[in-house]
Amino acid sequence: MTRPLQLYVFTHDAILHEVADIEERAKELNRDDSAAITEFAEHLSWFHTVVASHERAEEEVLFPAMNDRHEFIAEAYFFDHDDFEKHVWAGIDSAIAGLTGAGNGARKEDAMRLYRESVALHEHMRLHIAKENELLLPKLETEFDISEQAEMVGAMAALGNPQLLGQGVGWMYKWQTAQQREEMVRYLHTNLPAEAFAGISGILAGINADDWAEVQRRIPELA
Ligand SMILES: [Fe+2]
Ligand SMILES: [Fe+2]
Repeated sequence: MTRPLQLYVFTHDAILHEVADIEERAKELNRDDSAAITEFAEHLSWFHTVVASHERAEEEVLFPAMNDRHEFIAEAYFFDHDDFEKHVWAGIDSAIAGLTGAGNGARKEDAMRLYRESVALHEHMRLHIAKENELLLPKLETEFDISEQAEMVGAMAALGNPQLLGQGVGWMYKWQTAQQREEMVRYLHTNLPAEAFAGISGILAGINADDWAEVQRRIPELA
């Protein structure tokens, strides 16, 4: 992969798959199935952590780098991140609290609110990521050369905790096509220390044997 920020695009792709899936799950959720609600609540909480970690990497690496070249471009993206917290994630948390028994007991309204907030999450994220992909990313790739971009990707990865990074790569992999898996694994194989790659490839191989066999077929040096 000659485009270091492709990894950034893959993260965005996985977030978009996930928010579409969350909307569907919220629509189908049985408000009387407490096990399903607990499982969904835990998944939403985990996903919120993943998104927050992605946003932190943008706010500490990409946005300041962009700001140094062109003041004011990055501030709109910072603004979106803060806005999600107050207007979307807070709404989801409140609806979940209602459904898990910590609210006022209006379960039908809480279930409807959870669905509504999930639609909002999907649409807010779609627009935000479309702007990052279509407006911000081309500017980054014009302003910074390949080695600077690779440094940025490394700096963003170094900010995350290793366990969450491993989970995040596994989560992206699950949403990817075979071609995208090949590109991501090739990139990780080339750029990670051998020990870190061994840990991540073990996680990926354990997700689905057929998918991993296809990755190995495409990248013979892994076999
Ligand atoms: Fe962002
Ligand atoms: Fe992003």
